[in-house]
Amino acid sequence: MKLEVISNLDELYTRGMELFKEAKENGAKTFGLATGGTMIPLYEKICASDLDFSTCESFNLDEYVGLPATHTESYVSFMKKHLFNQKPFAKSTLPNGEAKDAKAEAAAYEQKLQATTLDFQLLGIGVNGHIGFNEPGTPFDAPTHVVTLTESTREANARFFHSINEVPTEAITMGISSILRAKQIVLIAVGEKKRAALEALIHGEKTIDVPVTALQDHANVIVLTDLTI
Ligand code: GLP
Repeated sequence: MKLEVISNLDELYTRGMELFKEAKENGAKTFGLATGGTMIPLYEKICASDLDFSTCESFNLDEYVGLPATHTESYVSFMKKHLFNQKPFAKSTLPNGEAKDAKAEAAAYEQKLQATTLDFQLLGIGVNGHIGFNEPGTPFDAPTHVVTLTESTREANARFFHSINEVPTEAITMGISSILRAKQIVLIAVGEKKRAALEALIHGEKTIDVPVTALQDHANVIVLTDLTI
């Protein structure tokens, strides 16, 4: 794992954008993408760059269950607003949060992931150490699945909704095993709230209580952070 501490956020996000460029130059075609406030300045940098994804494919980490795709806070809306409208991929796939049978949708999404190779996976990190929506306690060998969101995650994400009551209670997320199959992982952790989770990744023991620690086993992880750990 390579830790890059960059205290200037503009420089940190420029570096993030450059990692996408490097990956593309090295032949990456399939990108795993992430949502969350952390990614907004990164996607701004990418949109302002000359990066072209028109021959690439993307898969997103996760999607809320039961939120209409047209809802402003659905992850498909987020991705269109912050990236896809400006930088379209040849094909972009997210779990369908409106599927009648969410479990069947999760299984179908896993099939799609198994049929491809993610050359590059972008990750944020939850305050409780979750990646995608893999909450503490999720086995590291879990495939894409339906998850009941923890109260702390719903509280953390309530800032995007009018009230916590509007935050969905379930999501479909790529599993940790699906994430770990990516050839390269770039994780971005910004702000004091992420310190405990990042410390666990860098200095802690591998434990399902802090899902991000699963990355300790991966051969090609770059962590970009403004935190001195
Ligand atoms: C959500 C997403 C995660 C993301 C996390 C952190 O829970 N499912 O993929 O990493 O939020 O979000 P933020 O960047 O807003 O702190």
